Amino acid sequence: MTEQIRTIDLFAGAGGLALGFQQAELGYEPIFAVEIEPAAARTFKLNFDCRVHDGPIEQVHDYPPAEIIIGGPPCQGFSPLGRDRDDESRAQLNELWQHYLKAVRQVRPKAFVIENVPEFQKSAQFAKLLELLDTDEELKEYGYNYGVLNAADYGVAQRRRRGILVAIRGLKEVPWPPPPTHGPESQDGTPYATLRDVIADLSPTPEITEIGTRPDGGQDLHIRRNPTQKSLERYRAIPEGGNRFDLARNRPDLLPNCWANKPTGTTDVMGRLWWDRPGFTIRTEFYKPEKGRYLHPTADRPITHREAARIQSFPDDFVFEGSKIEVARQIGNAVPPNLAKALAEFVYRLAFATPVTEEA
Ligand SMILES: C[S@@+](CC[C@H](N)C(=O)[O-])C[C@H]1O[C@@H](n2cnc3c(N)ncnc32)[C@H](O)[C@@H]1O
Repeated sequence: MTEQIRTIDLFAGAGGLALGFQQAELGYEPIFAVEIEPAAARTFKLNFDCRVHDGPIEQVHDYPPAEIIIGGPPCQGFSPLGRDRDDESRAQLNELWQHYLKAVRQVRPKAFVIENVPEFQKSAQFAKLLELLDTDEELKEYGYNYGVLNAADYGVAQRRRRGILVAIRGLKEVPWPPPPTHGPESQDGTPYATLRDVIADLSPTPEITEIGTRPDGGQDLHIRRNPTQKSLERYRAIPEGGNRFDLARNRPDLLPNCWANKPTGTTDVMGRLWWDRPGFTIRTEFYKPEKGRYLHPTADRPITHREAARIQSFPDDFVFEGSKIEVARQIGNAVPPNLAKALAEFVYRLAFATPVTEEA
C-alpha cells in the first residue's frame, strides 16, 4: 500500500495544486490548508475533505506535522529588482513570506514547493528568499532549484508560465527542470494538448446563464453570457487565431477608441483561440474577451467557465463553490492540476522514493 504523504497547502485557493498532487496517486493527501477567500476555502473543503483554516495565514500559529508543504503567496505586489513599491504593499508581502517560511521552519517537511508568477523570480523578494535558503540555520538543510515552467510542457492545453521552486531536505542538488511530458522537449515527442482535445465535445451554444446541475448530477459550468449586439458583431469580425487588429481591418466602425489609438502591442486583446493549439493563460476574468485571448475558436462568444476549467485541466467532477465571479477567480488563480501532477511525481522521485538511509 502507498504510504500517506501528509500535505499542507498554503494559499490553497480552490486546490488546483493539491488536486494534481492527489492525482499522482503516490500517497499525497491534503491534511491542512489555509485560504482567506471563503468561497475558495469551501471549494477546497468540499473536494478534499480536510481541515481548512478559512482566514488569513497571519492567524495560523500551529501547523500539524506533514511531509510536504505546497503553495505560493498571491501574485500581486512583486516588484522587479530595483523598482521600489510603496512601503505598505512591500510590508504586506514580506509578512506573507514570513508566514510561509514560518510554516516550513515549524513543520520541517521533507520537501516544499512554491509556485508563483514568473516575475517573482526576478524580484527583490525572491533574492531575499534565496539568501535565506542559503544562510538560515534551519532552511540551509534544504537543497533547491527553481525556474519558469510552461504548463503546456506538462500536458495542459494551455501556454501558462509559472515560477516554481522545489526544495528537498537533505538533498544537495535538485535537478532541473522536471522532465517535460508533452511537446518537442518531451522524451517521446508527445504532442501538446490542444483546445480541440479538451473542449470540442462541449456545445458551441451553451444554454444556461447561471451555475446549474447537469442531467447526470454533476455541476454545470457551461454558462452563456448575454453580449450586446455590438459585442457580437465585434466577435464575428475576428477569425480563429485573430485579435483586435482583425477587428480594426474588418470592422473599423466597431473599433473602440482606446484600441484605435494604440496601434501596436497587446496582441491577445479580443483574441480568438485556435482549435489545434494549446490555449493561453486563463486569468480570473476569462469571460471578458477584451482582457485576453478568450474567444472560442469558432463560436461567437468568450469561453465558458467549464471550458476555462477544462483548459486549466480540472476534471468535470471537481466542484466549485461560490458565485460565477468567485468560481472564475478560483479557476483563473489555480495551478493547472496536470502541471501539479508532474511536480508531484518529480518531488516524489527526489524526496520520497529514496530510502532514508541513502540520502544526504
Ligand atoms: C494564486 S492563488 C492559489 C491557487 C492555488 N494554489 C490553486 O492551485 O488553486 C493565491 C491564494 O492566496 C489567497 N490568499 C491571499 N492572501 C492570503 C492570506 N493572507 N492568507 C491566506 N490566503 C491568502 C488568495 O485568496 C488566493 O486564493
